[in-house]
Amino acid sequence: MKGMFTKHYDGVAVLDGFILDVVDGAMNRITGPSGRGKTTLLRLVAGLEPDEADCADFKGRTVSMLFQEDRLAMTMGMVSNLRHALGRDVGLDAILSMLNELGLEDHDKRVDECSGGMRRRIALARALLAHSELLILDEPFTGLDPGSRRLACEAIVRHQDGRTVLVVTHEDDDEVLLPIARTIAL
Ligand SMILES: Nc1ncnc2c1ncn2[C@@H]1O[C@H](COP(=O)(O)OP(=O)(O)OP(=O)(O)O)[C@@H](O)[C@H]1O
Ligand SMILES: [Mg+2]
Repeated sequence: MKGMFTKHYDGVAVLDGFILDVVDGAMNRITGPSGRGKTTLLRLVAGLEPDEADCADFKGRTVSMLFQEDRLAMTMGMVSNLRHALGRDVGLDAILSMLNELGLEDHDKRVDECSGGMRRRIALARALLAHSELLILDEPFTGLDPGSRRLACEAIVRHQDGRTVLVVTHEDDDEVLLPIARTIAL
């Protein structure tokens, strides 16, 4: 899939005709320094920003997105969060099994009682479980220790299901943990 993306904020171009060329059905890594426009690009791909883009290939695709922020319901339990977000499309067994894979066995814990790294994995579980053609992960490993990061990588690989993945990461060794088909630098 290929598209050309432009985005202005207050008349200033954050992206100016940036050509995003991804490998379909594979893992594509997006890198770049802070403030360069990675999140903006992902939001454009997901159709969350007013359209300045020539991106027909990406249009009309179903998208599952892990935002840079966790965006969880803080006073609900981890299972309730996922059930609420995913609705009837995803069964309880799949939710529990995903949480276990990510090292989150304490299913009744409320999100506001969870650590930052646990919250990040709950948000990742939600993105992985949602059915979609495109899987967009904006810095999925924020706040994760090496063991949790390895579990997160294994879960991403296991649940990719042939989807085209766009993942923003800063660490070069993610290429060891994830089968990255292409790295795209902003
Ligand atoms: N809603 C907005 N209104 C105005 N400017 C914005 C808005 N969102 C982003 N920007 C600006 O666009 C630029 C790119 O931001 P973006 O969040 O896409 O960067 P990023 O590469 O994801 O950075 P980071 O690695 O810190 O997450 C920044 O200069 C930011 O200030
Ligand atoms: Mg960002």
